[in-house]
Amino acid sequence: AYTAEPFVPDHGGLTALRRAAADCRGCPLHRDATQTVFGAGAADARVMLVGEQPGDQEDRQGKPFVGPAGKLLDRALEEAGIDPGETYVTNAVKHFKFTQAEPRKRRIHKAPTLREMTACGPWLAAELALVEPELIVVLGATAGKALLGSSFRVTEVRGTVLEREIHGRPERLVPTVHPSSVLRSDDREAAYQGLVADLKVAARVLA
Ligand code: URA
Ligand code: SF4
Repeated sequence: AYTAEPFVPDHGGLTALRRAAADCRGCPLHRDATQTVFGAGAADARVMLVGEQPGDQEDRQGKPFVGPAGKLLDRALEEAGIDPGETYVTNAVKHFKFTQAEPRKRRIHKAPTLREMTACGPWLAAELALVEPELIVVLGATAGKALLGSSFRVTEVRGTVLEREIHGRPERLVPTVHPSSVLRSDDREAAYQGLVADLKVAARVLA
């Protein structure tokens, strides 16, 4: 089975993790992507935000949530009363998965499979063990399935505080929609306000 497990170092902290992840070949996604996009942010962050996978901009720049979805997320976090500078942001899958009709054509995001999410899980588990956040904000269905299992439905649990064992540790989680879904929404303002409202639930847990 595909797995990142043999690539994950058992000591050396986040710096060692990030370095090792750059050479991960735990699943085929490393082949077409530019680089591994590991989590970023404060090692002592009280809140960890988990997205799906890097997008086009993230793949080029090597950092999570630096493209349009990330800009929207930062704005929503501030509006909810969470300082983006005090968060740790990462993704369920660390390589960009895309389709491309022809070379030099636009790269179109493709959802990772359950196998790829499972393969990449050891990186997320290692990040959680080191950062030890008080709260995990789950951004959308893919992150939800990766963390909480395939029966996860974002519409059923968004804006609520869940307590679950994740990779062997008791965690508190607040699920919400993915910021990219806000950008794609027919009613962007309503979708954005929904995201902010869910993040305010997270802010209250941290208060
Ligand atoms: N979408 C994600 O899920 N993660 C990113 O890092 C960027 C866009
Ligand atoms: Fe490794 Fe995850 Fe990249 Fe697959 S997606 S190669 S498991 S870092």
